[in-house]
Amino acid sequence: MKDIQPKVLSTEIACAETAAPPCALVIFGASGDLVQRKLIPSLLALHHKKLLSDRFCLIGCGRTELSDQAFREKAVQALAHEDAPQAEKDDFVTRLYFVSGDYNSEDLYRNITNKLEALNKKYDYGSRTLFYLSVPPLLYGIISEHLRQAGLACSQSSEHSMDASLIVEKPFGHDLASAHELNTTIGRCFKEDQIYRIDHYLGKETVQNILMFRFANTLFEPVWNRNYIDHIQITIAETLGVEHRGEYYDHSGALRDMFQNHMLQMLAMIAMEPPVTFEADSVRDEKLKLLRSLRPLTQEAVSQYFVRGQYAGYTSEPGVARDSKTETYVAAKLHIDNWRWRDVHFYLRTGKRLAAKTTEIAVTFKRIPHSLFASSGLDEIPPNVLVMKIQPEEGMSLRFQAKRPGSKLCMGTLNMDFSYEKVFGIKMPESYQRLLLDCMLGDQTLFMRFDTLENTWRHLDPVLKAWAASSDPLPTYDPGSDRFDAASQLIEADGRSWRPLD
Ligand code: BG6
Repeated sequence: MKDIQPKVLSTEIACAETAAPPCALVIFGASGDLVQRKLIPSLLALHHKKLLSDRFCLIGCGRTELSDQAFREKAVQALAHEDAPQAEKDDFVTRLYFVSGDYNSEDLYRNITNKLEALNKKYDYGSRTLFYLSVPPLLYGIISEHLRQAGLACSQSSEHSMDASLIVEKPFGHDLASAHELNTTIGRCFKEDQIYRIDHYLGKETVQNILMFRFANTLFEPVWNRNYIDHIQITIAETLGVEHRGEYYDHSGALRDMFQNHMLQMLAMIAMEPPVTFEADSVRDEKLKLLRSLRPLTQEAVSQYFVRGQYAGYTSEPGVARDSKTETYVAAKLHIDNWRWRDVHFYLRTGKRLAAKTTEIAVTFKRIPHSLFASSGLDEIPPNVLVMKIQPEEGMSLRFQAKRPGSKLCMGTLNMDFSYEKVFGIKMPESYQRLLLDCMLGDQTLFMRFDTLENTWRHLDPVLKAWAASSDPLPTYDPGSDRFDAASQLIEADGRSWRPLD
């Protein structure tokens, strides 16, 4: 198969970016891995792009005793390999402060309040304060309640002038009931429009591109339906195993860790109806509608639509129970019961320790209805396939047929390829840059509203229950393999096959 590079006519039609307003960011769990690896470098990148306000400051919080200086030194290490002039790094790091204490003690929140007041005198950041919870979800309720009691959680509309937001990482609950419970607890302290539930996949440029691609081109939308599309495959394959996160992962598994959030969000973006505007609730309303159209499953029917597996050797990983039945691979066949998608199969799979790291959405169109080349032996003409490559080689490719030069009738399958790196020549920005900037700007488009999240759990609840009740042995697959038999059978039973992982 040959690749054709498109000629880029114009890389920029309209470009809108707004710099963040003055604000203070308070991060709980600030000495943790995510903060050092992702958040601090992303904030520096925003600073470098002049998207962070001159009146920005950050308070890290944690149980570890750290002085401001010690916290800054950790940040300097985290930024050692980041691409920015030293003067910018130095300026950024001086904006970092640290408050240590027990998350359950009022002292911590009193100290945060005092520090915020002092920093407001210094930076004049005004009333916009963001509280980022990079801590285990068990602490979300405790911290929110303390913030409320300390008067730090009130929104502008209350008698206080504090314009506060709460940012939480996944997992948001571990099933429908716990997600509700968590939301009720947080909801006593923060209103829905103050809460930013992060799914870092939504911050990826290529995931956001799904909206641009679908709704800024006339070419594809008319064929984006059951009349032209045979099926859609969504894949997130990883080569890594659970690494140092065995304990967390063993209580989670692939369904909760990847499927409930990243995969269903990508499904919603690829399949939802066009939003009326590119505004937060317009987009999120359409996602909700789509998730509500997922064909409901009964517990008894789960095994026909969902399969799971575990990589061999998983139970020897640190932090993992030796008799663990936690899945590291999930594959599913989903249906969307609406006019656009009725009877189209959506196949989704995600797994750890597979042959390649790749995330993609592949849309396979129906075969041509009749081949006029059949008498020359060309009756099985391959279908068109549009692949959105989310990572690692971000881009898109469209498979089509064309005449090969030479013989009278010689057909070849070609790929028209678009590569972000080749066209734009830049490394993709870390998704936390987008997400942190949007939080500061108060734009919730890329964050999960509770009703959408609730619908993801509602759909998966029968799966969780069926798996918890099952005594069947969990099938295993070889680390590094491309094939997991149970997943292959799921799709092959319909006369289709998974795309190779490469
Ligand atoms: C996280 C999961 O949300 O996403 C991890 O908890 C997973 O288990 C990671 O490895 C994958 O993210 P990315 O951006 O590397 O595809």
